[in-house]
Amino acid sequence: MVAFHILTLFPEMVMQGLSASILGRAAKSGCISIETVNIRDYTLDKHGKVDDYTYGGGAGMLMQAQPVYDAYQSVAGRIGQERAHRVVYLTPQGKTFCQEMAQEMAQESDLIFLCGHYEGIDERVLEEIVTDEVSIGDYVLTGGELPAMVMIDAIARLVPGVLHNGESAQTESFGDGLLEYPQYSRPEVWHEKRVPEILLSGDHAKVDAWRLEQSLQRTKERRPDLYAKYQEAHAVEKK
Ligand code: ADE
Repeated sequence: MVAFHILTLFPEMVMQGLSASILGRAAKSGCISIETVNIRDYTLDKHGKVDDYTYGGGAGMLMQAQPVYDAYQSVAGRIGQERAHRVVYLTPQGKTFCQEMAQEMAQESDLIFLCGHYEGIDERVLEEIVTDEVSIGDYVLTGGELPAMVMIDAIARLVPGVLHNGESAQTESFGDGLLEYPQYSRPEVWHEKRVPEILLSGDHAKVDAWRLEQSLQRTKERRPDLYAKYQEAHAVEKK
């Protein structure tokens, strides 16, 4: 069970995105829980403002420390001191998200995601509360909500009970450091293309060998970086 807590100015966007399909089912069954906290609810400004100009000048507004800190405190208070929690701030300046990070975070009991907007968040509150700065890739989005949703999806599907039979998290791209092999379903011939003969043979050992070969070939062609890592790991194993 992992509890996801998302600090955001757009709670509806996050809840809508995460309540459909597999994650919605997982939340209903209690394998995960998802809550959003609206940072705006914690501002002390009487007009509901959460942003202001940056010291030193420059374009754009910055989210202020106070509402972010108080929103965080409300969640941390509910989690309680006996349960450790990581606070992930979504930013293009963070460490790039990957499957290994997803696996590591799927072991936690509570994860707090902090979604920024405008030009970012006052550095002082980040220094006080954030444990992990994470980017989902080298491009700039308008806010941290989509990156948080991407991370939550990737983490949640690794939590026991979230995927059912046939939705296995094991035999897939990155599971063993390789890309996945091509797959086929009925009919046997479609647009004059035949399903590879070996898959119809019923010989499981041969099918497995073919799939591994396809995975290796694909990874070598499409992701030489992953292929090199795989070779290195397997060379070490053989020694
Ligand atoms: N916020 C804006 N762009 C982002 C990115 N690429 N990753 C994480 N957070 C972001």
